[in-house]
Amino acid sequence: MGRLIIVSNRVPSPRERLQPAGGLTVGLKDALRGGSSLWFGWSGNQSEFEGDPVTGMDEVDGVTYATIDLTARQHEGFYQNFSNGILWPLFHYRVGLMSYSRRDWQTYLEVNAMFARSLRALLQPDDVIWVHDYHLFPLGQALRDLGVAGRIGFFLHIPVPPWSLVRSMPGARLLLEDMQAYDLIGVQTEEDADNLNHAFRQNGMAERAQAFPIGIDPHEFREQAEAGVRRDEAERLRASLRGTALILGVDRLDYSKGLPERFRGYEAFMARYPEHRGKVSFLQVAPVSRGDVEEYRQLRRQLDELTGRINGAFAEFDWTPIRYLTRPVARDILAGFYRMADVALITPLRDGMNLVAKEYVAAQDAADPGVLVLSHFAGAAPEMDEAVLVNPYDADEIADALHQALTMGLEERQRRWTRLDEDVRRTTAGFWARDFLQALDAAPPVGAPLAGT
Ligand code: ADP
Ligand code: G6P
Repeated sequence: MGRLIIVSNRVPSPRERLQPAGGLTVGLKDALRGGSSLWFGWSGNQSEFEGDPVTGMDEVDGVTYATIDLTARQHEGFYQNFSNGILWPLFHYRVGLMSYSRRDWQTYLEVNAMFARSLRALLQPDDVIWVHDYHLFPLGQALRDLGVAGRIGFFLHIPVPPWSLVRSMPGARLLLEDMQAYDLIGVQTEEDADNLNHAFRQNGMAERAQAFPIGIDPHEFREQAEAGVRRDEAERLRASLRGTALILGVDRLDYSKGLPERFRGYEAFMARYPEHRGKVSFLQVAPVSRGDVEEYRQLRRQLDELTGRINGAFAEFDWTPIRYLTRPVARDILAGFYRMADVALITPLRDGMNLVAKEYVAAQDAADPGVLVLSHFAGAAPEMDEAVLVNPYDADEIADALHQALTMGLEERQRRWTRLDEDVRRTTAGFWARDFLQALDAAPPVGAPLAGT
């Protein structure tokens, strides 16, 4: 059996390598075959020199991490502008936020070709390659161009909109063509698989997409949550709540997460259900993400204003309706907060999966579980239909859902949670990775054998 080669733009940081954080890292860690696997990607650093040398190489628990740097120009064109300014909004159905430029497209292709050259030098003939996410759509074809004939799979962590929308991006057809180089393409939901296969069909190409919904490591997360509630930070949060119910939101500060809509929903809840005023606290943890992209800066200003307005309108001298943090909170502390929360409020406008929803379920105490309020438009929603599902664009629906969640009896909470927890425990991250890799092994190969591999 060959080595498993994972390729992603973001590679776990050295700290995360020791104690993996985040579903992707945990899931893939399970799949990485000790002593014979490699994780390749961007170092997170910018260098002054153009070129494709591997600048970082280290080994942790039998996994080799190899990373390359980007120049400032590449970082801007490939990561900020094309990946985050064009592909991210487009694939989250926000074509109006996409700002296309042909120059960025060129830089995107150039960096993918650079990734391919750099990785090619590290490959052995039997390696199985698994590429992740929208930064690297063309990587498979770039590797084939360099003669790599073995198995190459791809997994897309974000949603796939209908082709009628994707095609608004110039060059969309070329992206599809490049994706034909993969033996198998995994996406999060059946809807995503249908949309991508439809796009392939419309363009006379082979259907290669299949749904593999990603999961978490629920056992590990439950342990973190149990330890988390005994930590100092959880004690401090509990003391500060002074008996009020806790509504929790946890997201990167991203416009796909529906944060302004969520805040407006909470505002409607305060206005229409005055009996809850002074009896609940909404804690939103939203660390700044991609702060160099203008749309993200705008969102931050908007949330600053909304928080000020809502707190100004509803606060009492001894009670604040919204607590809003834009700095990151460590994962083991956060796990304790999940367990303490009476309600998780997760309302993305679109989300590939949303692992926070699964983590919240895993963190609950079976004797007194909290309620998950979840957007219909999270990739997790089809699997998690025992959550209180909402349309995030409807502030009144969010308000009603919050009231329903906060007044729900123990029996109903337990019934809903038990069903959600069964699903989270069945479809783990490890299961996801094994399932994909088995299907990749069985997929009809597209790689034409060429000399050199
Ligand atoms: P996305 O991939 O868009 O960030 P997910 O819901 O899938 O959305 O979250 C990915 C991971 O990041 C989860 O494991 C979650 O716990 C973690 N995470 C999200 N927000 C925060 C935060 N504010 N602080 C720490 N970790 C976070
Ligand atoms: C989402 C994407 C990942 C990305 C992560 C953090 O989960 O699917 O590919 O790594 O967000 O975003 P960043 O831009 O910081 O890598």
